[in-house]
Amino acid sequence: MTATARLTTPFTARATAAEILDGVDLTGRRMIVTGGASGIGAETVRALARAGAEVTVATRDPDRAAGLVEEFAGPGAGSIRAAALDLADLTSVDAFVAGWQGPLHALVANAGIMAVPDRRLTAEGWEIQLATNYLGHFALVRGLHDRLRAAGSARVVVVSSGAQLRAGVDFDDPQFARRPYDPWTAYSQSKTAGVLLVVGIARRWAADGITANALAPGYIHTNLQRHLDDDTMRAFGAMDEAGNLITPSYYKSPAQGAATSVLLAASPLLEGVTGRYFEDNQEAEVVPGGPDPAAGVAEHAVDPVAADWLWAYAEQVLTSR
Ligand SMILES: NC(=O)c1ccc[n+]([C@@H]2O[C@H](COP(=O)([O-])OP(=O)(O)OC[C@H]3O[C@@H](n4cnc5c(N)ncnc54)[C@H](OP(=O)(O)O)[C@@H]3O)[C@@H](O)[C@H]2O)c1
Repeated sequence: MTATARLTTPFTARATAAEILDGVDLTGRRMIVTGGASGIGAETVRALARAGAEVTVATRDPDRAAGLVEEFAGPGAGSIRAAALDLADLTSVDAFVAGWQGPLHALVANAGIMAVPDRRLTAEGWEIQLATNYLGHFALVRGLHDRLRAAGSARVVVVSSGAQLRAGVDFDDPQFARRPYDPWTAYSQSKTAGVLLVVGIARRWAADGITANALAPGYIHTNLQRHLDDDTMRAFGAMDEAGNLITPSYYKSPAQGAATSVLLAASPLLEGVTGRYFEDNQEAEVVPGGPDPAAGVAEHAVDPVAADWLWAYAEQVLTSR
């Protein structure tokens, strides 16, 4: 992503989020994890709170986070609270932003949906994967900009995906209004948009003490796969002929899947690092995008011209709603 040397860490791809934060004290640091009530997000929340942070789980249904909140209700570690946020509904994003008081030290943009089978639109008329995975997070991070700045040193983390390798942002038709809708192209585009968001933040907010980095968590069994049919799950090697879930050796546990998120959100190893993309706890190589690469970050996902175009596009659609 940059001309500088790729950043490496001592952590392997199998490290857990708790191992990444071993010895790190986050007492007094206030953090938000979107989609923090399940899957990778819940393990991200647990690890940050165990290290002492005050974590807000941003979820469509705060009751879903009740168990997590209860886990940390006693003394001895950080704390967890839950707040309502629907990223596909800008009224909800605005209400969440209005309700956030005081500084914000880290925002983990983790919530996401994948491979929605048909072209569904939000109330604003936006394709729902782009709206949830990217536009809602753009509105959230922009709305919280002054709270991030108020922290003095703050981090934005975007949970992207290896899917960013497969499609750039279509400048002519990002909403699939004219081109045929494809569930995976829409997901890949939204995940590229997330990487371009951190490139855009790095280009704009460095002087505010705000850094931003993106990541791929790896493959993890979670609710994310709910739109996938059995044939697709078998093609991933994640289901047997009888329909039972299987876990291929390259899959990670949710606690391992959360490792790179907490590395970027809270590890001292990332101090001052911005505008980069990580996988398996290491900075990734920039590669040409397309159907073939199995790892790395696509050139189209780190292109500063594309990042600036997308930033302007997002501002324009948010103000014209
Ligand atoms: N699992 C994998 O193999 C994998 C691979 C690559 C990337 N990822 C990425 O990892 C992230 C976490 O996914 P996961 O695997 O942990 O799946 P998950 O358990 O389904 O978590 C996704 C979360 O997104 C939230 N969400 C969905 N729509 C939302 C909306 N409109 N507003 C607010 N929150 C919304 C859901 O929260 P509520 O329903 O509580 O609101 C849910 O907790 C996603 O961004 C995904 O793209 C996962």
